[in-house]
Amino acid sequence: MNHPGTPVLKAVPWAQVGKPLPHESARLHVLGQATYTDDIPEVQGTLHAALGLSSKPHAKIVVLDLAAVRASAGVVAVLTVDDIPGTNDCGPIIHDDPILADALVMYVGQPIFIVVADTHDNARRAARLGAVTYDELPAILTPQAAKAANSYVLPPMRLARGDYQGAFERAPRKVEGQLYVGGQEQFYLEGQISYAIPKEDSGMLVLCSTQHPSEMQHVVAHALGRHSHHIVVECRRMGGGFGGKESQSALWAAASAIAAAHLKRPVKLRADRDDDMLVTGKRHCFHYEYAVGYDDEGKILAAKVDMVTRAGYSADLSGPVATRAVCHFDNTYYLSDVDIRAACGKTNTQSNTAFRGFGGPQGAIAIEYIIDEIARALGRDALDIRRLNFYGAGGTDVTPYGQVVVDNVIHELVAELEQSSDYRARRDAIARFNRDSPVLKRGLALTPVKFGIAFNVTHLNQAGALVHVYVDGSILVNHGGTEMGQGINTKVMQVVAHELGVDLAHVRASATDTSKVANTSATAASTGADLNGKAAQDAARQIRERLAAYAARQYGGAAALVRFSNNTVFANGHEVAFCDLVQKAYLARVQLWSDGFYATPGLHWDPKTMSGHPFSYYAYGAAVAEVVVDTLTGEWKLARADVLYDAGQSLNPAIDIGQVEGAFIQGMGWLTTEELWWNPGGKLMTHAPSTYKIPGVSDCPEDFRVRLFENRNVEDSIHRSKAVGEPPLLLPFSVFFAIRDAISALGGHRVDPPLNAPATSEEILRAVAAVEAALPGAA
Ligand code: MTE
Ligand code: HPA
Ligand code: MOS
Repeated sequence: MNHPGTPVLKAVPWAQVGKPLPHESARLHVLGQATYTDDIPEVQGTLHAALGLSSKPHAKIVVLDLAAVRASAGVVAVLTVDDIPGTNDCGPIIHDDPILADALVMYVGQPIFIVVADTHDNARRAARLGAVTYDELPAILTPQAAKAANSYVLPPMRLARGDYQGAFERAPRKVEGQLYVGGQEQFYLEGQISYAIPKEDSGMLVLCSTQHPSEMQHVVAHALGRHSHHIVVECRRMGGGFGGKESQSALWAAASAIAAAHLKRPVKLRADRDDDMLVTGKRHCFHYEYAVGYDDEGKILAAKVDMVTRAGYSADLSGPVATRAVCHFDNTYYLSDVDIRAACGKTNTQSNTAFRGFGGPQGAIAIEYIIDEIARALGRDALDIRRLNFYGAGGTDVTPYGQVVVDNVIHELVAELEQSSDYRARRDAIARFNRDSPVLKRGLALTPVKFGIAFNVTHLNQAGALVHVYVDGSILVNHGGTEMGQGINTKVMQVVAHELGVDLAHVRASATDTSKVANTSATAASTGADLNGKAAQDAARQIRERLAAYAARQYGGAAALVRFSNNTVFANGHEVAFCDLVQKAYLARVQLWSDGFYATPGLHWDPKTMSGHPFSYYAYGAAVAEVVVDTLTGEWKLARADVLYDAGQSLNPAIDIGQVEGAFIQGMGWLTTEELWWNPGGKLMTHAPSTYKIPGVSDCPEDFRVRLFENRNVEDSIHRSKAVGEPPLLLPFSVFFAIRDAISALGGHRVDPPLNAPATSEEILRAVAAVEAALPGAA
């Protein structure tokens, strides 16, 4: 039997795209032979660095006494802000992000000094010996407190359409409330790491686990006071990034390079897990206040949401994250009259950053929470209310920011999932179960997703690639994207192999390297394969066209009629092995390598009015989750999950299904077990897996049915595929709302459980208690 998600292959004569091929490094991963940054053999003379961290959330540094650090075993150097030859900044957009604290600390965990020692252990031991005298200042720790204090990292933003106030006042029914959704640690398995190796004449090679080599090059150049051409940043692969290495690998890259430049020796900085979690930013938590008007059928007439996030001490990517939240509040729903506000609270905590979904999940979960309440108030199945509000046609297809939804498949997709998951019959069975089960309650929810694909900063939507065909017919592709496990190299290799009509085995992808492709964007916003796939296709096509012209000269006929497939070139009745043609073409002095470039067409965005056409297209999906909740202990289990995701014409269904599964479980962790907790002194106490619970393999549902929706991108994306990296992270909304549904069964679905995320067992018990207290007849 086919893998359940494998679509029928299109009947094309040669296809290297669309096949469920294994990840190009799967074998190496399994054998332990895949090289991560820390596996690269060390150069002789390599030293190891560690960071000395602030223990106060907001304070002036009065005395910094590093004598004990210097005297510690194996220590070679201790560096502070005064030792930075260039700019003390690693902020990606707004330059408010010091590499090392300069007289002021802004969060517990902020790096103050770099210690370099002979071994990793000696550096870490020494880093703890810094004696800092602080003059403490008042600290702001929560987004609500930041809002009350008018403390923001950038001006609040607002997107309004229509007449919200009038529509709200006229609406026959209203729902108002608040919601809190916590943040999330990226928890990449490979932590932050950077290894800087000085090269001749001011050169610096930086081997770094990063989603954004070009940005690392830029930050290192600035920190060292050198030009970009002095700096080479290389990344073969990451053991996960999840957004956490989009901007925040910069601190580690800069610190290792500063130390290496200072000592003129190679320096490696590998973060220990606790330091990694204490120092780096996470997914933004959000607090929402909402007021929505609707009619007796459940149609939303007016929607207002006021969101405030915990940005942390600096801006980092909070602006684009909040913008994406604003542009995803609508999710799959047409909202005629809206007032959407978002503010980035400046707090004395880690500077929050990108994390899979990039604000999209935080925007969309609010409207889902609201719809859940509308359904309960009307005594209707939430699916009916969702469907009633879906984007439609003829005016109900325009998003609040003005982009017309031209590719909407949510109606068909949800209908298919409703059928295949047996939603209605299971709803009835669950109601029967709950009638006879006072303690264990079952819950069910179907939630939809629409996710905009493109960087919401227009100029970032560009990519480059370099394809080399060697004389033996083997092919090397290099592109600006980075591999973090998501399979970008496999997909780009498939595209190149397809274009040149050869098997995947002919093609190899090399490490991302700023000296090969310049000025690249982060591999982020789910656009990696979209952008770099197109760029590599462009490069491969140019080579193919040169080969075709050569073949036409050799064998006659038109170049346009030359075919490349099955490792063979077909020209005017002749069949030549690809390798043989390449060899002949080389001797005839045909250029066998090419660059390629791509810039996504049609995008524009006006940040002042928050309107335009920020996305190239939308990816869709939906999920049904069924849970069992123990209402006495707050424990719960995901019994079954059915997922349908629109990857367009998937480049690689095996990889895409893996992405959907991974994102689903990761999103489920965010909304259920992963709780970040700062103590009143502003220290993050959940800074290791002992206190921070990510999902384990046993948390995956026994019955997990993930399929890809048959579709084709209406946009001219790479082979009409759609992005898959982030959108499925929103699918486990279904788990959260199934839990809420189960709790609400306690009161016969008459009371809205005030459930915040993460729905930990404690939070579930709080909601249970609130429902019981609110029931008619409760004491
Ligand atoms: N999958 C794995 N295995 N590891 C990762 O770090 N990051 C996610 C997603 N899937 C990630 C992943 C994020 S945040 C993004 S933006 C995309 O992959 C980036 O890759 P792509 O654009 O090539 O899909
Ligand atoms: N996603 C990820 N990174 C980004 C984005 C985005 O939408 N916009 C700017 N940087
Ligand atoms: Mo992904 S959060 O855009 O790196």
